[in-house]
Amino acid sequence: MPDHERHPFLHGLSKHRGAPPTVVVIFGASGDLTARKLTPAIYNLALDGLLPADFFLIGYGRKPMPDAEFQQLSVDAIKEFSRRELRDDVWARLAPRTLYVSGGYDEPAAFTRLAQKIAELEKQIGQDLQALFYISTPPSVFAPIIQNLGAAGLAARHLGKPTQSKVIIEKPFGRDLASAKALNQELTSVFEESQVFRIDHYLGKETVQDLLVQRFANAIFEPLWNRNFVDHVQITVAEEVGVEARAGYYEQSGALRDMIQNHTMQLVALTAMEPPVSLDAEAIRDEKVKLLRAIQPLRLDGAASDVARAQYDDGILGGKPVPGYLREKDVTPGSTTETFAALRLSINNWRWHGVPFYIRSGKRMARRVTEIAIRFKRAPGNIFADSDRFQLAANTLAFQIQPDEGMSMILNAKIPGLETRTQPVKMNFKYATTFGSNTPEAYERLVLDAMIGDGTLFIRGDETERSWELMTPILEHWREQKRAGLDSYTAGSWGPKSADALLAANGHSWREP
Ligand code: BG6
Repeated sequence: MPDHERHPFLHGLSKHRGAPPTVVVIFGASGDLTARKLTPAIYNLALDGLLPADFFLIGYGRKPMPDAEFQQLSVDAIKEFSRRELRDDVWARLAPRTLYVSGGYDEPAAFTRLAQKIAELEKQIGQDLQALFYISTPPSVFAPIIQNLGAAGLAARHLGKPTQSKVIIEKPFGRDLASAKALNQELTSVFEESQVFRIDHYLGKETVQDLLVQRFANAIFEPLWNRNFVDHVQITVAEEVGVEARAGYYEQSGALRDMIQNHTMQLVALTAMEPPVSLDAEAIRDEKVKLLRAIQPLRLDGAASDVARAQYDDGILGGKPVPGYLREKDVTPGSTTETFAALRLSINNWRWHGVPFYIRSGKRMARRVTEIAIRFKRAPGNIFADSDRFQLAANTLAFQIQPDEGMSMILNAKIPGLETRTQPVKMNFKYATTFGSNTPEAYERLVLDAMIGDGTLFIRGDETERSWELMTPILEHWREQKRAGLDSYTAGSWGPKSADALLAANGHSWREP
C-alpha cells in the first residue's frame, strides 16, 4: 500500500502533538452538534493533516442507515458548516473511513456490535486503535451509554497505554450539584478521571487560550493583577439570538445553567487564578479549582443581593421587531425561566479581596459580544484639571473574546493643542489584522486535544462540582421565589435595571462593550 494511502492524513503535526491511531465514535450522530460542529471539525483536522495516520469515524445512532447514507450526511454537513470549503481529495480519503453503527443507547447487544466493529478495524490496520467516545446526546441517555461502554468492555480497552479509551462528554453536565455529582460518579465507576474529557467549548476558543498567554507571557500585567491596582472586573457574555427552536431544552435550563455555571465561570477562573506552575492540565485545573473555592457564597435576597435575573420582553433587534420570551415558540405560558443572569462575585483570597467581579450573560441583548474588562483604579487626583472634580478616565484592559477578537486598553492622552487637556483613548489590537481571520474553531482544538489525551482545555470533575456548588443555592432560591424578583429587559437592550443596580451599589456601572 503506498504511504499516502496507508497514512492519508498525517502531515502537519509536531511530533509530540501526535495522536495514536484513533476511532472517534459519536453518540448522537444525526444530531445538530454533529452536523454543525463535530463533522466539520474532523474534516478541518483532516485538511490540515492533523488527524492520526490511521483514523476512523463511527457515527452511532438509533436510526438504522448504511455507511453510505451517513457519509452523505457528513459531506452535506461539511459543505454547509465547515469554515473552509470541501476539498474532494481530502473527502475522498475520509469518506471510506466514515462508518455507521445503529443501535439503542440502552441496548447492550448494540454496544457489543460496536466493540466488534472496532476490533475489525484494528485487524484491518494491524495495530491497536484508541477509541474516543463522544457523547453528544440529550443528558437523559448519558448514564446508559456510560454503563454500556463499561459492560461491553469498551471503556477499559488498552487501559494504561496511549491507546486507552477516552470519553468526551457534552454539556449539560448536570443541572445542579447533586446531579453533577451523580454523573461524575457514573463516569468514574467506568472510566478513570484521566480518560474523561468534559467539554466547555469556550475553552477551545483561541482568545480564551490567549488569555493565559497574555497573563503569563507578558511581565507587565502580573504586578498590576491584584487588589492594589484593580478596581473591579466585568465579564459580559451577550448574545443577540433568542431561544430559537430550543425552548424544549432552554425552558429546563435558563441563563444561569446554560451560560454562567460553565462558560462564564471558566472565564472568571482563567482571569483570576494564580499563575500555574506549568501548562500541564493538572497544574492549570488545580489553580482554577482553587480560585472557584475562594469565591464566597452569594447573597440571594434583600438590598445586598448579589444576583439578578430577567426575561426579555418584545423589542427591536437589527431594526426588526422580535417577540418577548413568553411569546416564543414552545415556551410554557407564565414561564419563569431566566434568559439573563448577572452575579456579583467576591473572591476571598489575598489577590482579590475587596475586588468585585461582575458577570452577566443574556439572550436577545443589544449585540453579540463576549468581553472581559479589567478596570484599574484611577490615577490619584487630577493635576491636568483646575479642580479635582474632573476625574481622569480609569484605565481599562479589555479582552474581546468574540466576535472581532482582540484586546484594547483605555489610556488618558493629551489632546493635541496649546493647552494640556486630556481625553481617554483606546489602544487596539485585533487578531484578524495581525494573524488573519481564518482561525480554527473551538471544536477542532478540543477534538484534537482529546485524541492526544491532553485535558488542559477540559473541565475536571471537581471544577464542575465546585461551580455547581456556587450556583445551586441560587437556582433553589429562584425556584422558590417563582416570579418574585424576576426582572425584564427589552430585547435588543443591555439587560435589566436590576443588573445595573448590582454595580450601582458600589458606585460602578456596566461598560458598553
Ligand atoms: C451554548 C449554549 O453552550 O453556548 C447556547 O447552550 C449558546 O445557548 C452558546 O447560544 C453560545 O456559544 P458561542 O460560542 O456562540 O458564544
